[in-house]
Amino acid sequence: MTKPPQQTSCPVPEAERTWWKESVVYQIYPRSFADSDGDGIGDIPGIIDRLDHVADLGADAIWLNPVYESPQHDNGYDISDYRSIHHEYGTMGDWEELLAQVHERDMRLVMDLVVNHTSVDHEWFQRSRRRDPDYEDYYIWREGEDGEAPNNWESFFGGSAWTYDEERGKYYLHLYDESQPDLNWRNPAVRRDIFDTMEWWLEKGIDGFRLDVINLLSKAAGLPDGDPDAEWTGARHFVDGPRLLAYLEAMDEQVLSNYDAMTVGEMPQLSVEQARKYAGTDGPLDMAFHFQHTKLDYEDGKRWSVGDWDLPELKQITRRWHDGLSAEGWNALFWENHDQPRVVSRYGDPETYHRESATMLGTFMLTRSGTPYVYQGQELGMTNAQWTDVESLADVDARRATRELLDSGQYDSFEEVADIVGYRSRDNARTPMQWDDSDHAGFTDGEPWLPVNTNYEEVNVAAQADDSVTAYYRSLIELRAEHDAFVYGTYEDLHPEHERLAAYTQTLEYPDGGVSERMLAVLNFSADREPVELPTTVEDADLLLSNYDRDAITPTTAHEPYEARVFRLE
Ligand code: GLC
Repeated sequence: MTKPPQQTSCPVPEAERTWWKESVVYQIYPRSFADSDGDGIGDIPGIIDRLDHVADLGADAIWLNPVYESPQHDNGYDISDYRSIHHEYGTMGDWEELLAQVHERDMRLVMDLVVNHTSVDHEWFQRSRRRDPDYEDYYIWREGEDGEAPNNWESFFGGSAWTYDEERGKYYLHLYDESQPDLNWRNPAVRRDIFDTMEWWLEKGIDGFRLDVINLLSKAAGLPDGDPDAEWTGARHFVDGPRLLAYLEAMDEQVLSNYDAMTVGEMPQLSVEQARKYAGTDGPLDMAFHFQHTKLDYEDGKRWSVGDWDLPELKQITRRWHDGLSAEGWNALFWENHDQPRVVSRYGDPETYHRESATMLGTFMLTRSGTPYVYQGQELGMTNAQWTDVESLADVDARRATRELLDSGQYDSFEEVADIVGYRSRDNARTPMQWDDSDHAGFTDGEPWLPVNTNYEEVNVAAQADDSVTAYYRSLIELRAEHDAFVYGTYEDLHPEHERLAAYTQTLEYPDGGVSERMLAVLNFSADREPVELPTTVEDADLLLSNYDRDAITPTTAHEPYEARVFRLE
């Protein structure tokens, strides 16, 4: 192996280093993580009991999905009180204990902030619908047009984005469920209230926010009709709206900049240019989630469909985001979250090559620059679950989509739409975490709110041996912590057009030139054996990690199904 040149300077200047760039974030969906009291619903004491699993994996931070008081129409994304804990999850005391326990394990806690909308049960909405003068203007109220909604905007969950409220005698806007009215960010009192709430949580000692659908805050003046053929009717008038940057800059200036807190904005329909604006080096946020790689398997751009996907497109998206943000921002890397189907069921082969494909996909996520987010159960290779009828689905979005597919007249029965809904439903990510092979996978002593995936006897934390998916994730995370090239390096795609293999380098250079480290990853995304010619000199490569147990391999030998290899070249 070529020795790195003797340089005294550090390849990554101190000023560029931050804890959140160097972190691996683990996402916890509280409802489904661990239940401590037998009511079938995950809770905060349950999370505390299982924190060692997260720490042992090597995670540096936890993103906790919403735990605020909520009627749970959208599992906590409908908040009725920003300053108290949902009663099924525990008390504020439990939450404080969680924060202390997370910090004790040298991890950080990132809270989910949902401020595009609240629940209809929030006191602000209750007062607004009663026309309380202080709250009258907290939401977006409009008269109808001849008994019809004020415009043709569509809710992300389907149907009109407007609901008529008898009490107020007007329509209110909701870009999600009708139980989730959109806040009126033009109103300075709304902004002040939200900023105060953020400060309140930061003062409690949290380490950052994941900002839910944060690029929807600013709606175009006059709320004009949208193109009915668009993927999301009206989106042009509420995604990336005219005042968004000003709102986020004010948030940063008045609140975030006073703390060492990280922010990651969830931004539907985000482009690289927009990401640079909001999460570039000088932007108000630290990074943003985009969704381009989660739509590869859409058919004709439709979400409720199952289509073929291709690897060159994934690689193209990866390059675009790396090149677009590496010098002027930072990338957030993820495969899964609580809204996405399980990745091994989408881009891997859970039947024949479960371990191989789950680990290969993990390698792709954890050997590139950016901050990776591992969703609970991804480190086990948890798979999509089994949905037998519409009643078995819990997700407000999946239930609505099922009804719409059935109403479309194209299908006659649930069986006919089951392939689509079963593949795409957000419930797939929300089945209980699989801890062991006891009843309900050790998630609860009671009846779980959503059934456990039937494969829990094989796929569970307790069953993860030394050659398991989890052990491999642990190695990946360790490798990342040891080598800055994976975190800060420059990504170069060596085989952009290859249909089955991904091969790329991550190179870390000294500011004055000269390579500090160069890593190479070669990944087989297929179930076929693949030889590969690499346009780089690899004779001296050191194998750092592989998901196959083989000796004497070089980067150019044939690649077994879903094989992943990571080398150090320099
Ligand atoms: C985000 C959340 C999702 C939620 C929606 C509305 O996309 O991730 O779970 O339903 O926002 O708050």
